[in-house]
Amino acid sequence: MTRKSLTSARTVLACGCLHGIYRDEVAVASLLKLRDDLKPDVCLFLGDGLDTSSFRAGASGNREEGVSSDADAAAFSAFIRELRPRALYMGNHEARVYRLRSHPRDIVATAARWVVDSIEALAREVGAVVVPYTGALDAQGWRSIGGVAFGHGVVFGENAPRDHAEALGCDVIHAHTHRLASQPARTLARLRGVSVGCLAAIPALEYAAGRRATMAWEAGCAVIRYGEGQRCHEIELRTLAATRRETVCPLA
Ligand SMILES: [Fe+2]
Repeated sequence: MTRKSLTSARTVLACGCLHGIYRDEVAVASLLKLRDDLKPDVCLFLGDGLDTSSFRAGASGNREEGVSSDADAAAFSAFIRELRPRALYMGNHEARVYRLRSHPRDIVATAARWVVDSIEALAREVGAVVVPYTGALDAQGWRSIGGVAFGHGVVFGENAPRDHAEALGCDVIHAHTHRLASQPARTLARLRGVSVGCLAAIPALEYAAGRRATMAWEAGCAVIRYGEGQRCHEIELRTLAATRRETVCPLA
């Protein structure tokens, strides 16, 4: 794959939400085949590469507490070495271990530092910039290519794509919601928010079993194409779970 600078990219492949140990092998294989076929200039991984299950506050005393951080990191690392993204975003699942580096229990802080160090070493190895997860605090978690903002995502509701576009005031591509969706913003500027789906084996994410919204989760990615002056002229959503192909929202 060619690795043009972000400012000269004509085709960008964006994906996210692998969730490490819970990765969906069919979705991952489909994504990598698509990458090989399309040969995008730039790949962006939009966060939640790891699941970090055992670090979750609610994991204590249940099965998640025993989920292997080694296996989580190995599944994530193998994928990133294959994808070789230009930017490696941190999602809310990675933000968990970044926060826990200052936990008062040394054993927790030491384990969290090990995970963060392994993420940052992996980014150096593949030549990716690490984009922090800053949630709703500031815009540092977003990077723009040709006026389209790429980030992990902050809000999680049914209208998350629309809400992200309205919050940032530009077209937005995000992960986080695990849905393949495209929504217009309620602005005269005719902005649009797009969520790229996930690369996780959805039935394995047991902590989401009690939410109706989980039924709408889908494996997928987005292909963003730019024309003259790096003006975005097409955002194509691709499901990776079936043979269906949709072109969702050409941008005028
Ligand atoms: Fe996720």
